[in-house]
Amino acid sequence: MTTLKFRNNDEMPILGLGTFRSEPNEVYNAVLSAIKIGYRHIDCAAAYGNEKEVGNAIADAIKQGLVSREDLWVTSKLWNASHGEENVIPALNQTLEDLQLDYLDLYLIHWPVALKKGTEMPEKASDFIPLSEVPLTNTWKGIEAALEQGLTKHIGVSNFNENQLKEIMASAVHKPEMNQVEMHPFLQQKELKALCSHFDMHITAYAPLGSLVDENNTLRLLENDTIKNIANARNMSPAQVALAYTMQRGIAVIPKSINEARLLQNLETLNHTLTEEDMTLLKDLNKGHRFIDGKFWEFENGPYTADSIWNN
Ligand code: A2P
Repeated sequence: MTTLKFRNNDEMPILGLGTFRSEPNEVYNAVLSAIKIGYRHIDCAAAYGNEKEVGNAIADAIKQGLVSREDLWVTSKLWNASHGEENVIPALNQTLEDLQLDYLDLYLIHWPVALKKGTEMPEKASDFIPLSEVPLTNTWKGIEAALEQGLTKHIGVSNFNENQLKEIMASAVHKPEMNQVEMHPFLQQKELKALCSHFDMHITAYAPLGSLVDENNTLRLLENDTIKNIANARNMSPAQVALAYTMQRGIAVIPKSINEARLLQNLETLNHTLTEEDMTLLKDLNKGHRFIDGKFWEFENGPYTADSIWNN
């Protein structure tokens, strides 16, 4: 499988380029190199602070005749400080301006967390707005309006738990088609995956390589023995094994890289297939471990806890 099919038969490449934590000065080359070697799906977000540079790379790739706009799948996300129906289209217009695009392929609510206008990352409890004041269903109306106005072809959410998905599904005129969540062999999220299938919603896995950024984290996905053994046996790298496992579960992956060799290595995962036996061994690695733990939303007397985000 190389694409995921949407309800109107649009197809999203199952492997895309992640741009979270790609510095503005690095992301231009990463996106242009990625497009040159065959990536056709770029995952962005206003909060990554690099959409202008991503936009320059896309514009140059189109100018150089490498691709046309229609060949690309571009996803972006509504930042937490723009929750609320009336704030969605202005935020999306800014993203479109930065990316130099007329439309997105997919627009997601980034987190089920609301912040006061202008807040990048919260520093105190009063930077937050509780969801009781700005319900997700209200923000969803703005997302639906963006779809109806043709500013995005598909709509969805990110980091939504079971109850939040049900809440949106119960009132949506246009149902979400995607939930982007952390997923890799250590965090397989079987129940959430089943619920998304039930709602005819795709999943995109972020941090599919186990996000190597947390240097204090002793749990390293790509150093796991099972993954390394399968990699040796199949002439793959550990990263390719991790990506192939998730894609063979029918889930899209968006590994981030700014390095040309690793960009190519990740894309070449599409040339490999794991066996049933490999899949069974990898399934056993699940330990419900989150590398992106959501604790950065927890403040004393604040309205959100990591537990309320993942489990309620
Ligand atoms: P770099 O950008 O220097 O390649 P995730 O997508 O799970 O958050 O992981 C991203 C991290 O994994 C980045 O630090 C990225 O570094 C690194 N990375 C990307 N591709 C590979 C690969 N094929 N092998 C090892 N590390 C990789």
